[in-house]
Amino acid sequence: MAKVNKKNFGGPWTVEKLDCIEKFLKAYSNIFKLGSKGARFETSYVDGFVGSGESKACTSIDSDADQLFCMQAQLYESSAKRALDLVHPFDKYYFIDIDNSKLQKLNKIKQEYPHLSSKLFLFSQDANEFMIDFCDSFNNSYERAVVFLDPYAMQVKWKTVEIIGRTKGIDLWWLAPIGVAPLRLLKRNRLPESIYSGKLDEMFGTQTWKDRFYTTDEPLALFEQRPRTVRSADWKIVVSFLVERLKTTFNCVLEDPLVLMNRNNNPMYALCYASQNMTGLRIAKDIVSKKKRESTYVS
Ligand SMILES: C[S@@+](CC[C@H](N)C(=O)[O-])C[C@H]1O[C@@H](n2cnc3c(N)ncnc32)[C@H](O)[C@@H]1O
Repeated sequence: MAKVNKKNFGGPWTVEKLDCIEKFLKAYSNIFKLGSKGARFETSYVDGFVGSGESKACTSIDSDADQLFCMQAQLYESSAKRALDLVHPFDKYYFIDIDNSKLQKLNKIKQEYPHLSSKLFLFSQDANEFMIDFCDSFNNSYERAVVFLDPYAMQVKWKTVEIIGRTKGIDLWWLAPIGVAPLRLLKRNRLPESIYSGKLDEMFGTQTWKDRFYTTDEPLALFEQRPRTVRSADWKIVVSFLVERLKTTFNCVLEDPLVLMNRNNNPMYALCYASQNMTGLRIAKDIVSKKKRESTYVS
């Protein structure tokens, strides 16, 4: 499978994604901490692929547009810091990363937030496994949560998304890979090999992607023995399919996720939102529509 260069990972689109999450967390925490209805709920923020929490520098300066970006935003804050810096913090923070060295760095950042130290829980674990336990003990009558899943590639399993939906009390933001994978696995002139098909089944939670993304033609010429299977789907169809899949589990799904484009205008990820509440969806829609109007690196 295509490998992601994790060392130099990120770019202008990274900031777009984090800006949306931050805006949503601000609006969400204001509603729960300032409104009378929200106050009866205990709120959690779960960052399933949290990273080290350190601020990062933009280093890609190989085009005019990127140079401009670097001048404007030398450093950008991580998802963890943005969540911890909220004026009205969550009642609990769960930070998960499979890489223990990242959590050690995050543990240092934790010391900058002594007022939150008893509310902050770090787990060195696969986010899919963590979410099973978290959702199992989630009590919808007095808990609410925002979950942010921000993987490099196809690490989020569909069954995790489904378990989150079933709690009926979680607002999910999922940075679903599009260009990095699965598009690279979806070969143009044939179905992917079984090992990659299995990965796609795991991400979409179904095998129906084969019918949605591929068409099979009858042989055109006498010498063509077998029907030809070709990919008919482009990235827009893949994004629509993801939205359809989310609707099987959530009542309120953002119809047009924020698609993050790289500097060659190729789609990298779709920032998807799904929940069971209309207020959350309305806020997510406002944030994403505004971003689409203002930014170069999204579609
Ligand atoms: C894109 S980075 C997260 C960036 C972070 N949101 C930020 O703002 O800095 C993805 C992280 O996911 C972690 N990771 C990869 N596979 C994982 C898994 N199965 N479960 C949990 N974390 C995982 C990686 O170690 C990496 O730190």
